[in-house]
Amino acid sequence: MEKLIPGLEGVPIMESQVGFIDGQKGILEYRGIPIEVLAESSTYEEVAYLLLWGKLPNREEMAKFDHDLRTHRRVKYRIIDLMKCLPETGHPMDALQAAVAALGMFYPAKIDPAEIQPGTDVLARDKHYWSIIRLIAKLPTIVAAFERMRHGDEPVRPRDDLSHAANFLWMLTEQDPDPLDARILDVCLILHAEHTMNASTFSGLVVGSTLADPYTLVASAIGALTGPLHGGANEQALRMFREIGTVENVRPYIEAKLKAKARIMGVGHRVYKVKDPRAYVLQGLAEHLFRVKGEHPLYRVAQEVERVINEHVGAKGIASNVDFYSGVVYDQLGIPIDLFTPVFAIARVAGWLAHWVEQMKNNRLFRPDQIYTGQHNLPYVRMEQRT
Ligand SMILES: CC(C)(COP(=O)(O)OP(=O)(O)OC[C@H]1O[C@@H](n2cnc3c(N)ncnc32)[C@H](O)[C@@H]1OP(=O)(O)O)[C@@H](O)C(=O)NCCC(=O)NCCS
Repeated sequence: MEKLIPGLEGVPIMESQVGFIDGQKGILEYRGIPIEVLAESSTYEEVAYLLLWGKLPNREEMAKFDHDLRTHRRVKYRIIDLMKCLPETGHPMDALQAAVAALGMFYPAKIDPAEIQPGTDVLARDKHYWSIIRLIAKLPTIVAAFERMRHGDEPVRPRDDLSHAANFLWMLTEQDPDPLDARILDVCLILHAEHTMNASTFSGLVVGSTLADPYTLVASAIGALTGPLHGGANEQALRMFREIGTVENVRPYIEAKLKAKARIMGVGHRVYKVKDPRAYVLQGLAEHLFRVKGEHPLYRVAQEVERVINEHVGAKGIASNVDFYSGVVYDQLGIPIDLFTPVFAIARVAGWLAHWVEQMKNNRLFRPDQIYTGQHNLPYVRMEQRT
């Protein structure tokens, strides 16, 4: 009898060298380099290169990649026009998904099956290299443009003298970004850039396996990331801290939720059974930011939630994940709450594409099986005879 594994928990679906997680020890590495080291020493642009090519770039390689990203930030006015037609009350993730799907019509990247042979390196093909550059470079522009337009403002043109993170803050506010804010956001982007076989990466790979183009793949991954059990949790965690409001309210709130078997957002993980290593880095960043700029009013609430969760369900391996502290950091940076998940997408696009590059070297169409539990050979009952 075939065995069903709900949610494919623990089932490897391909070999990969992009990222590594040890959920028991709380280890996350990108291409073999620990996340803490990258957060300390690298930049988002360098990490994107590392994920895609599997090695750190030398000076010339980095300069070219960075230049290509900086010079492809602008989006065509027709994409902006298209986004103007979207309801300003809609969620920015939905706007991002729609705009990314449309991008693929402006930069045709359809794949001829004959192009993809065992060992094909899409990074070495111009058409695909530029798709990758455009996707990474333009996602922040799309998110910032939607944010501006839904408030009745014109989008702010991207600047090519700023880093990826600093330029995003610039496009949101039209203010020169504070260097500390830009660096903190840069580290947040590093922390969210890749996370092995999560739901959005898997969704992208399912689409990639059909030899659909990378814009379609990224649009599908963005769709998967919107859900509150995945990328949407960062927004929900901050909403929960706001709802709790004070440190005194934490214990009764959390205990009531746990009793009702409700999910606490920003805690628990399919793979990590200890505190997510990214949550440690984010908490450190939050504390650094608060020392310089004043403490976020909900930071103590968050800490108390963590303590109470740990007390009640810590022994079951439920601990803070990446989404637990990212909200208070983004909020302190002035990023609106419903842009938290789009910021996650801005970072994760590098990971999605790195997996796609790897997949195209050895592709096999995803076509899993099911266990049919329905009936067979039923008669067709005519409408008049149906009760
Ligand atoms: C991420 C998540 C879906 C992974 O869960 P999973 O691997 O499917 O774990 P399960 O649903 O099998 O849960 C195992 C047990 O832990 C509990 N649990 C898991 N996450 C929980 C949470 N966030 N709050 C309360 N209880 C939780 C479940 O109720 C279950 O308890 P039980 O054994 O008594 O029934 C889950 O932890 C969750 O919903 N977290 C909140 C959303 C979130 O922060 N997502 C971002 C992930 S980076």
